Amino acid sequence: MCGIVGYTGPREAGPILIEGLGRLEYRGYDSAGIALVDEEGALFVEKKAGKLVNLQAAIADRTPHASLGVAHTRWATHGRPNDLNAHPHQDCTGEITVVHNGIIENFRELRDELEARGHALRSETDTEALAHLVEDAYQGDLSAAVREALGRVEGAYALVVMHRGERSRLIGARHNVPLVVGLNGEESFLASDVAAILAHTDKVVFLQEGDIADVRPTGVTITSLTGEPLDRPVSTIDWTPEAAEKGGHATFMEKEIHEQPEALAQSLAGRVSPAGGVAAPELDEMADTFRRVTRVELVACGTAYYAAMVGAAALQEWTGLPSRVTVGSEFRYSPPPVDTNTLVVAVTQSGETADTIAPTRWAREQGCPIVAITNTVGSAITREADAVMFLQAGPEIAVAASKTFVTQVTTLVTLAATIAKARGAMAEAAELELGAALRHLPEAAARTLELAAHVPAMAQRYAGSRGFMFIGRGYSFPAALEGALKLKEVSYIHAEGYAAGELKHGPISLLDAECPLVAVATRSRVYDKLMSNVMEGRARDARVIAVATEGDEAIGRFADEVVFVPPTHEALSPVLAVIPLQLFAYHTALARGNDVDQPRNLAKSVTVE
Ligand code: M6R
Repeated sequence: MCGIVGYTGPREAGPILIEGLGRLEYRGYDSAGIALVDEEGALFVEKKAGKLVNLQAAIADRTPHASLGVAHTRWATHGRPNDLNAHPHQDCTGEITVVHNGIIENFRELRDELEARGHALRSETDTEALAHLVEDAYQGDLSAAVREALGRVEGAYALVVMHRGERSRLIGARHNVPLVVGLNGEESFLASDVAAILAHTDKVVFLQEGDIADVRPTGVTITSLTGEPLDRPVSTIDWTPEAAEKGGHATFMEKEIHEQPEALAQSLAGRVSPAGGVAAPELDEMADTFRRVTRVELVACGTAYYAAMVGAAALQEWTGLPSRVTVGSEFRYSPPPVDTNTLVVAVTQSGETADTIAPTRWAREQGCPIVAITNTVGSAITREADAVMFLQAGPEIAVAASKTFVTQVTTLVTLAATIAKARGAMAEAAELELGAALRHLPEAAARTLELAAHVPAMAQRYAGSRGFMFIGRGYSFPAALEGALKLKEVSYIHAEGYAAGELKHGPISLLDAECPLVAVATRSRVYDKLMSNVMEGRARDARVIAVATEGDEAIGRFADEVVFVPPTHEALSPVLAVIPLQLFAYHTALARGNDVDQPRNLAKSVTVE
């Protein structure tokens, strides 16, 4: 939930670390801090509550020359977001410095024990205990001390530790929280993700659970917690640094909404043949499993959960297998009955969401075959799965998901078709119809963006509304839920997403002239039913905003505002319908003066329960 970056090498560490933190702010941004060991071996530490700019202002003109350092951007879990609780943290002597992402679950016992032994802990954080544990264990070798200290720790962590007296060395450790090593000849990096270091290197080592990385300027040595040497491959990342930048847009969210046609094209590459055949080659080894399974359980959170709803509907419709999706935090403690014939599909953009990883791991322990759908190569979820489908959407920096929702939907639909084909349940004509729609989808998404040119002005007109009700039926229901979530996240206006038929069972009482009804009214088998629900809302004075299919001439009679999207396959309709809703949320937030890339109280990657 926090962002970490570390540097050792011949260049000035300060600017490199601050630039890296800027790229990690989406992981958390309630405080930031930096620690540098200068040329004389003196430690410089500065920490500031609030966004990175506060730290930058505090160190301007006084950043020492240093070639070793660590920095951190925080999303608070233990201890209020203030200067004192900001990372980095030091031990009693000031020799040892720690930055940490995750939660040390036994930190209270550790703190009590450390204090009883005379250690003075200054902050309220779980992390500070780690610095003191390393202090106790240190006998001249930082790596050995970190390993010994971590032997006492329960919980999840990615951490970087440095010692003032070991002037070119960083120790990184990972357990259930991401950490990567970057290598660039005479300099090395540690970071929460590649976005922080991509400007400097494309050669990275993804640390795995329990890895301890001894990082020097010229390379890294990796061992287990007990000191056994480990071999980890060096991966070459093909994301350009520019791919992680705003690319001419005012914000990352705007950029990511507009790059959806490209993200879809990238995501579908290799999955739809020119003739319209749909297949996911990465699932080839699963064909026998797909033939024998008797049910499908999907697990996900937030936006990924709504995408998984589309996947569950397509799976059930095309394979005939009972398929349902459960949010990770519910699945974890009230798991559905599973057996070795239950296929579990975990959907997570980051691949690091604790609420999704834990139930997936549990299901694996029960012997369930697992397919993971993620955007993040090397992420934790990939190690829990028998097969992985990558979204191939490129890095998503804005906290509010956009391009990963649409690519999750298409990837899930591809999975559903692959399973249906393996089971002989999908006729060739149905496959070709889907394949043609998938191939056309990037172009249709580009057309959707053009058709939504009036959405900014519309958002201005509605930005003062008290609340919004989003409705949809069938495949358009998840799009309604995602539209409501987007609006809530970035505009801070209350929005409900409902199955349209449920409106009359309660939430209709919220509707009036101050609470518009947003209807996802794309062409479908249940279009007429949805229109009846829209009329119910109109009869209560609600203004109606409709997302409808191009060519729908009747919609103007039911709606005050219409945004058209091109026609597509019904199962893919949420991909297009969500785009104007993302834009509506985005421009409403701008009209209200909000920080759209980093909405209050949120973090991009939720690696704690
Ligand atoms: O990385 P994940 O897909 O597992 O994240 C799950 C949710 O936290 C995430 O989708 C969240 O709801 C989005 N940021 C919403 O825009």
